[in-house]
Amino acid sequence: MKKILFLVMAVLAAASMMIAGCGGGDKKAAEPEKVLRVGTEPTFAPFEFQKEGSKSYDGFDMDLARAIGKQMGYKVEMVSMGFDALIPALNSNNIDVAIAGMTITDERKKVVDFTESYYTSGLMIMVRKDSNVKSIDDLKGKTIACQIGTTGENKSRTVEGAKVKAFNTQDEASLELKNGGADAVIGDAPVIEYYMTKAGKDFAKTVGERMEAEPYGIAVKKGSKLAGDLNKALAELKKSGEYDKLYTKWFGEKK
Ligand code: ARG
Repeated sequence: MKKILFLVMAVLAAASMMIAGCGGGDKKAAEPEKVLRVGTEPTFAPFEFQKEGSKSYDGFDMDLARAIGKQMGYKVEMVSMGFDALIPALNSNNIDVAIAGMTITDERKKVVDFTESYYTSGLMIMVRKDSNVKSIDDLKGKTIACQIGTTGENKSRTVEGAKVKAFNTQDEASLELKNGGADAVIGDAPVIEYYMTKAGKDFAKTVGERMEAEPYGIAVKKGSKLAGDLNKALAELKKSGEYDKLYTKWFGEKK
């Protein structure tokens, strides 16, 4: 009798464990994996770029996006598009955030929200090696290549009498300079400096110093509560040393 009772109890215990186990499993399966859709324009090394023939996204912004996603418990999915398509994509809910070396400007703040700045950049001029352009004043009436929708394009358009050629990618703007279709490129200094260590070293040089500081921020749809969560994650990555680790990986020691 005792034996039977023991057996019944054992079976019941096993069954309840199985039910609990299944229940837990079901709950997990029903919970959708949170995905953070990150929009970017990946011709912007060392912030976002794709190595030739590779589908993976490299660069400081891309590493930072993955670290932030991990911190917030999201799976990160990169979505590639034109730089000028990023803000419309946020506003039409096609992406959740934009990380693309995007400068926080008053104009953009009217249509999207930004996180705290995570990097300080600035604009720079690049010309061909044989050019005698010494400063932005020498670009008056000249042809300037830039990337469409960027602060570099805005700056180019302030140069008196200049012809501005705005390209879909930063690489195309640089190529235009190389091919003689433009007298200069105006773009983000860290990107131009990086380019100077690669393809640019054969034909180009930079002119002068970085122009005024430009803070990069992560953009979200206006009113999105993601901005607060992203700021929290950023602060945590700064505290843990993870941010510094990524910074050093891409830019060397902090000056
Ligand atoms: N910082 C500049 C801007 O906000 C250029 C950014 C271009 N970014 C890119 N991923 N292509 O306008």
